[in-house]
Amino acid sequence: MEKRIIETEITREEDRTENSLRPKFLSEYIGQNKVKENMKIAIEAAKMRKEALDHCLFYGPPGLGKTTIAYIIANEMNVNIKITSGPAIQKPGDMAAILSSLQEGDILFVDEIHRLSREIEEVLYPAMEDFAIDIMIGKGTAVKSVHLDLPHFTLIGATTRAGMLSAPLRDRFGVINHLDFYSPEELQTIIKASAQKIDVKIEDSGALELAKRSRGTPRLANRLLKRVRDYAAVMSDGVITREIADESLNKLDIDELGLDRNDKTILLTLIDKFNGGPLGLETMAASIGEDAGTIEDVYEPYLLKNGFIQRTPRGRIAMPIAFEHFKRPIPDNYNN
Ligand SMILES: Nc1ncnc2c1ncn2[C@@H]1O[C@H](COP(=O)(O)OP(=O)(O)O)[C@@H](O)[C@H]1O
Ligand SMILES: [Mg+2]
Repeated sequence: MEKRIIETEITREEDRTENSLRPKFLSEYIGQNKVKENMKIAIEAAKMRKEALDHCLFYGPPGLGKTTIAYIIANEMNVNIKITSGPAIQKPGDMAAILSSLQEGDILFVDEIHRLSREIEEVLYPAMEDFAIDIMIGKGTAVKSVHLDLPHFTLIGATTRAGMLSAPLRDRFGVINHLDFYSPEELQTIIKASAQKIDVKIEDSGALELAKRSRGTPRLANRLLKRVRDYAAVMSDGVITREIADESLNKLDIDELGLDRNDKTILLTLIDKFNGGPLGLETMAASIGEDAGTIEDVYEPYLLKNGFIQRTPRGRIAMPIAFEHFKRPIPDNYNN
């Protein structure tokens, strides 16, 4: 499928602006009220006991604020944060080295934690539970196991795929938080805050228009804000009005419900080629040339959330509002 503006991986150049737009404190973190409430209590309790915070897991689609909240927690706890990711850790020794470099209270943030190999997960179990690791030293017959105590640290894991986490690893997190899509009003607040940070003028109605078309995702909202800012600068006086937002988003092929070309491909494949389904995930993946896991974790959650599709035991079904949206008649044999 084509590279989408809703790209899940952030590009390097974007890295810096993304970091500059990240809220630093829980009070600036918009929405996700249940998550914030959970974390406020966990942070307060840890501070009261003068202990490291419980290990926390955050899961949900890309761009909803998992990395952001990890940084915020470090800030609120006033501790150091070390960042790594599942794919970056190749050997158990790598994990052991990172763990033994931590100081009391530090946070170790493991992004894409579902991609750790089982062998490396096994280093984490005693580390998380007993703050200790056993490492093998030496070679051949001289090899011996050395028990090493670790400082009390906090592991924060992030994943788009909670289902792919092994049960023993999942069970070792004290706090498990699911991040959900944001409402247009929440995104509007985020967009206005970002606009202020990057020094661009935006009207409330312009921010709301952008918000409605950001797929419930702050990362996308910030990304669209920058695109629309450029458009406003070239096409008018630089102020983002509703009209400017609407025009530029149309040019970017993002429709009035925030669906982009890849969403359209998924829905129209279901509707035009498979009578609206049911269609198995693997067939869908083969048919549009996208990885099944990516469809499941990145594209589908938003379509499910908004009632465009449903998952059934027999496969994915396009719902009537999807037919309506694309002005397609519902076929006679729909859903048979
Ligand atoms: N709750 C929030 N309030 C304000 N901005 C947010 C929030 N969540 C995410 N963002 C913005 O969205 C961007 C992407 O968030 P990030 O934490 O990197 O997502 P994830 O790690 O889940 O993919 C961040 O740069 C941040 O500016
Ligand atoms: Mg992240």
